[in-house]
Amino acid sequence: MSPFDTIIDRRGSGCSKWSRFEPDVLPMWVADMDFAVADPILHALRERLAHPVLGYGVSQAGLKARIVGWLEAQYGWRVTPDDILMLPGVVPGFNMALRTVCAPGAGVVVQTPVYPPMLKAPENGALRRIDAPLTATDEVDRDVFGAALRQAGQGAFLLCNPHNPTGRAFGREELAEMAQACLSAGVSIVSDEIHCDLLFDGRRHIPIATLAPEVAARTITLMSAGKTWNIAGLNACWAVVTDAGLRARFAATLSGVADHVNILGLIATEAALAEGGAWRDAALAYLQANRDWLAGAVAERLPGVAMRLPEATYLAWLDCRGSAAAADPHRFFLEKARVGMNSGTDFGPPGAGFVRLNFGCPRAMLEDGIGRMARALAGA
Ligand SMILES: Cc1ncc(COP(=O)(O)O)c(C=O)c1O
Repeated sequence: MSPFDTIIDRRGSGCSKWSRFEPDVLPMWVADMDFAVADPILHALRERLAHPVLGYGVSQAGLKARIVGWLEAQYGWRVTPDDILMLPGVVPGFNMALRTVCAPGAGVVVQTPVYPPMLKAPENGALRRIDAPLTATDEVDRDVFGAALRQAGQGAFLLCNPHNPTGRAFGREELAEMAQACLSAGVSIVSDEIHCDLLFDGRRHIPIATLAPEVAARTITLMSAGKTWNIAGLNACWAVVTDAGLRARFAATLSGVADHVNILGLIATEAALAEGGAWRDAALAYLQANRDWLAGAVAERLPGVAMRLPEATYLAWLDCRGSAAAADPHRFFLEKARVGMNSGTDFGPPGAGFVRLNFGCPRAMLEDGIGRMARALAGA
């Protein structure tokens, strides 16, 4: 038995995932995993808590050195500790990054269906949202993307790579085309790469800023240990901004709003990068096996439901348009199967008829969820 098979009762732990629905609902929604955190991270946190004072934290030299080392080892990305800013989260990070790079009232291009806070970020900053939907096979539509950029003015492209909810890990060519189109249109790039360390089938993540120095000069990249090591509740992430001028402007936007990071988040991030490699590899293998099992189960047991194999992340984007749940799959599976997923409609117009299922859980829990969904469809 794998340690990831252990079912941990999270009710009563103050977590969002298990608090949203009624007690008989199996929650398979928000993007955190039902796995225990890696021992080296727990150890580092316990050690820190042995000290009884929890005043403001500040990132230590060791943490930025770890991040620099991780970026080089994982993606061949060479940056310096000065290029890195610590932030309390990727969502505050991209909200503030858009306000940094966009002229007032400019456009922000998003690739729908996409992570809901990305749909809201333009409006939060009094900016215009411009949707550039992915194709039916989750690829970038060059013409649609180019047309969207042309409407952005001195705006931004808010990239999600790997892409939530489709699970696409964009390849070098696709990224290069997008980056080139942004440069030609005079549009900056804000790149949310939070799922960057969860790529399947031996794929390697490519940070868009690594494509060329002129791309890096216009890019704010956001990354975090939150998803990979399941420590999202500790609210720590980092931005890589290699252009000194852009970095100073970003730091000024963050100042007084999002420039303090939870001290335990800093400790956990450093421990994850320093000692969490083996846990990450094991978790990734488990998730990949869950993904493959899920794809088979969807095909065999959920008539009319389709999914493409995610290339990254533990989120499956289920196309229910051909099923008995088509009209409102989120409600159907919540009410009839007692499985709580994310409604596709929250991810923008192309999400109608879809749900997002989180398979970052013990296999038995995943089997339970699919069993419930299969019975609900059979009874419909
Ligand atoms: C694409 C993406 N960005 C950001 C976040 C959340 O980031 P944070 O908790 O660091 O704000 C998530 C969480 O699901 C996500 O999927």
